[in-house]
Amino acid sequence: MASEFAEIISSNNMAPLWEVLRGLTPREPLQKVSPTFWRSNTIKENMKLACEFISAEDAERRVLVLENEQLRGKSLATNSLYAGIQMILPGEIAPSHRHTASALRLILSGEGGYTTVDGDKVFMSPGDFIITPTGVFHDHGAEGDEPVMWLDGLDVPVVQMLNCGFSADDPDHKQEVKYPADYSGTIFGNGLRPISPAPKRTYGTGSIFHYPYERTYKALTTMKAAGNFDPCDGIKMTFIDPTTGLSPILTMSAFMQLMPEGFRGQTFQETDGAVCCVVEGSVSVVINDEPFQFEQHDVFVLPSWSTRSYESPEGCILFSFSDKCLQEHLGFWQRRVVSN
Ligand SMILES: [Fe+2]
Repeated sequence: MASEFAEIISSNNMAPLWEVLRGLTPREPLQKVSPTFWRSNTIKENMKLACEFISAEDAERRVLVLENEQLRGKSLATNSLYAGIQMILPGEIAPSHRHTASALRLILSGEGGYTTVDGDKVFMSPGDFIITPTGVFHDHGAEGDEPVMWLDGLDVPVVQMLNCGFSADDPDHKQEVKYPADYSGTIFGNGLRPISPAPKRTYGTGSIFHYPYERTYKALTTMKAAGNFDPCDGIKMTFIDPTTGLSPILTMSAFMQLMPEGFRGQTFQETDGAVCCVVEGSVSVVINDEPFQFEQHDVFVLPSWSTRSYESPEGCILFSFSDKCLQEHLGFWQRRVVSN
């Protein structure tokens, strides 16, 4: 009788909710991804091979996608985040294109690299945070004499889930620079906005797209000097669009975090999974009771709702990105401190 019932409803494209209910509405977030990590040396060695294998122009983007062990073949670092490592060699160009997915970047190594976003060109240095908002042309290049490497983060999984993505190549290949050097950073980054005429920048919701590390570092060390510590995170700052106070990308938040020497944080959980990269120093992280040690430029995944705690005898600066702002906007985001 039961199998007859199952067959009948199945033949009409129906299914019994009572058999899948708990899977659809779990009691708490499931551990769907693992704390996969990529060592700095492994990243460098594999990228060296990629440089021998293909040019940036032939590849369109020379990127090694960082895939979570639990989600191989899907180009996913977590359920909602794409991550990759990109490299450009001196003289190379990653041609101009645009897509619905927004991108963020943490520069890992090399001087002389640039990103042009909608005709605004900035040079990038290690530790700098750069964004490419939704739907605007962007190209990259290396005008110095050293390779430039960075961590990419995109909201591709969100765009895929909504099936709302477009993309296009720029016939100009390399954009014409339309603005004075560091145009948007010099104006909006200094807390100013032109009264009239209104700025012609129309990309995304944004104003600035380049956050130099020098300024981020100063903000973190000033917070440290003021003694403003969170018991779990140390000092964790989020990047904002100064004209809105919101994340400059509405689907992804990005953070720079300082743990002072001797830091020992409380154990906690958060509903946003994150991709993290050590910028300076080193950190011990216990994730779901498993200990890990990460050094400069190691990249690792913090699964959503995993228990985690940080310890850093020598001090650490940690970059991370997640879908926190999207979850907050939807009223989903939660944090729970597990222990002291
Ligand atoms: Fe792109």
